[in-house]
Amino acid sequence: MTTDAPSATLARALAEAAAEIDQALDVLLPPDEGQEAPLFAAMRYAAIGGGKRLRGFLVLEGARQFNVSRQAALRVAAAIEMVHAYSLVHDDLPAMDDDDLRRGKPTVHKAWDEATAILAGDALQSHAFTVLAEEDTHSDPAVRVELVRCLSRAAGPRGMCGGQMLDMLAERAGGQLDEVAIGRLQTLKTGKLIEFSAEAGAILGKAPLPQRHALLAYGRDLGAAFQIADDLLDATASAAETGKATGKDAAAGKATLVGLLGLDRARLQAERLVAQAKGHLDGFGERGDLLRMLADFTIERRS
Ligand code: IPE
Ligand code: IPE
Ligand code: MG
Ligand code: MG
Ligand code: MG
Repeated sequence: MTTDAPSATLARALAEAAAEIDQALDVLLPPDEGQEAPLFAAMRYAAIGGGKRLRGFLVLEGARQFNVSRQAALRVAAAIEMVHAYSLVHDDLPAMDDDDLRRGKPTVHKAWDEATAILAGDALQSHAFTVLAEEDTHSDPAVRVELVRCLSRAAGPRGMCGGQMLDMLAERAGGQLDEVAIGRLQTLKTGKLIEFSAEAGAILGKAPLPQRHALLAYGRDLGAAFQIADDLLDATASAAETGKATGKDAAAGKATLVGLLGLDRARLQAERLVAQAKGHLDGFGERGDLLRMLADFTIERRS
């Protein structure tokens, strides 16, 4: 039993999970001495030693609800963090958001070059699916296929890539989208990978459908709140806090709820979504406490 404030309890749990995830990534993505060494180095640079590990933490906490082995959960946590890292490497490319700083370091195309960044992103994505498909992830091949199916859908044209396309189209058109269109864009570009992260533990644990759906619904609301918070941070936080350039979305003509509704109404919307996210966890009792704290953290964070 801990007497810490919830935020301190969560901070410790997140830090522990981040260390475990880094260790798993280090094993799953070892350095290479051969001629492809720069590709491996760029993949490791993008994936290891940075980021909040929110998606990996969701996998671990979801899996804990169903007593899944830590080893298996860590492999899936590492896989989602590889896909997320790939999405960031490509998001930062000159052809997309054109950013020089990520997680407090130069972006991969700055530290190497654009071709290496494209390949490192591609290879991180492929490698994530290799990890999911390997027997160590789960003894039941049907579970492994379900993980592959769900993550590939979440990352693909009806998921992250689709959302990134809508983000680019909106920016190029220079016109602000309405609230429904922004919601759809954000559900796809950010929400789907977060939904998968929340659901993955239930897949690994062969959880009853109602519990799997509850985690999925939690992830959906959390993901929506998460992107609003990211957009709020772009408008209100510094690069020193976030480890990436801020104050860029408005200038670039990004379609965001902050741009459409203003800071206060966007924040209210994020708070509503967080309350709704926590409501989906009612059936999880005390074991769901860290997931509830994570929902609050999603909009209270400064990085
Ligand atoms: C940033 O995600 C990109 C978005 C989808 C908003 P995170 O804020 O989770 O980035 P890291 O992993 O902590 O660096
Ligand atoms: C990125 O959204 C979403 C991804 C799919 C990577 P942003 O472009 O707002 O993310 P940041 O602010 O660069 O991290
Ligand atoms: Mg972007
Ligand atoms: Mg970006
Ligand atoms: Mg952003």
